[in-house]
Amino acid sequence: MIKVGIIGTGIMGAGHARFIKAHVPDAKVVALADIDAKRVADLAAELGTVELQTDDPEKLMNDPNVDAVIIVSPDPLHVAHLRLGIKSGKHILCEKPIATTLEDARAIAKEIGDYEKKVGKKMINFGFMRRFDPGYREVRRLIATGEYGAPLFVRAICRNTDSGNITSSGLFTNIAIHDFDIYRWLFKSEWESVQGIYPNRSGDSPEGLADPLIIIGKLKNGVTLVEDVFAFGQYGYDTQVEVVCENGSLRIGIHGDVAISANFEAGVNKGGKMDTNWMKKFEPSYIAELQAWAQEIKTGVVNPDFATAEDALIANESAALGVASVSK
Ligand SMILES: NC(=O)c1ccc[n+]([C@@H]2O[C@H](COP(=O)([O-])OP(=O)(O)OC[C@H]3O[C@@H](n4cnc5c(N)ncnc54)[C@H](O)[C@@H]3O)[C@@H](O)[C@H]2O)c1
Repeated sequence: MIKVGIIGTGIMGAGHARFIKAHVPDAKVVALADIDAKRVADLAAELGTVELQTDDPEKLMNDPNVDAVIIVSPDPLHVAHLRLGIKSGKHILCEKPIATTLEDARAIAKEIGDYEKKVGKKMINFGFMRRFDPGYREVRRLIATGEYGAPLFVRAICRNTDSGNITSSGLFTNIAIHDFDIYRWLFKSEWESVQGIYPNRSGDSPEGLADPLIIIGKLKNGVTLVEDVFAFGQYGYDTQVEVVCENGSLRIGIHGDVAISANFEAGVNKGGKMDTNWMKKFEPSYIAELQAWAQEIKTGVVNPDFATAEDALIANESAALGVASVSK
């Protein structure tokens, strides 16, 4: 049994804890750390397996009863918590992004690289869970069949209903960072360029926030992304992807189902009630990610789909290209 500690028990930390309890039989959550004692106590009561409740991430990291730790604290704390993780020698799954500045991302990625070289194995994974999403994996399989021809471009939508206190650059570094990662994974190519363009600003977005945002990105293999990111879309959580190939369109809909239009047959994605956030749509991805992590820890066999520190750094570097493009 893998004994897991979680740092940060907010929306995502509580989500990971619940998914482990319900879907990862090889693991159980034994320790929680958060500065919000009530959140820790409430989640511990719900889980029934927690032996350590603390407001100190270092205490959790150093607890000999904990084998593996998920870092789900706010973005600006990831670097400090990753450094604690390196010192602890435990298996770590850290939520995206690796850091909030490029300088920090480069520094911590190098520290992780040096550490993993020294211990001779990969110890730290990053939570780019779309790599485990059934929809993206199905699209990857469909492309590989060759039946639809070569992929040409991607049209994507990423619209939240409420992104809290996100900043204008956060639309690139916190939200679209998933896209910067997933398309280089899907198309096995690196970003050549990323550019942001602002359409009309929504009067319903918080004052001073540049929202929504259009992103145009080009991979070195020519596949081009056109995406809108809307932090305060408000009408419902809406993420969709269309991969346009020479002979067909492969679409991941709002509910994660894949529809194909080819041979003059139009596929249609499911409609219906929309969610308010990402948790339900990506639930299968989070569960598959956590199961894969437990399997990797248990067997020692590296899962090539996990994002490494290097992948996480590249995602930050790609987001930075976008931020720079709108700061000129
Ligand atoms: N992979 C994904 O799809 C996905 C989705 C949502 C969020 N995230 C990431 O997960 C992380 C958490 O996001 P969230 O939405 O759960 O945020 P949240 O604000 O709901 O939760 C963050 C928690 O961290 C706690 N915290 C603050 N300072 C702390 C400290 N010093 N030590 C310990 N805990 C501390 C807060 O009290 C809060 O409970 C972020 O990095 C975010 O980018 C990833």
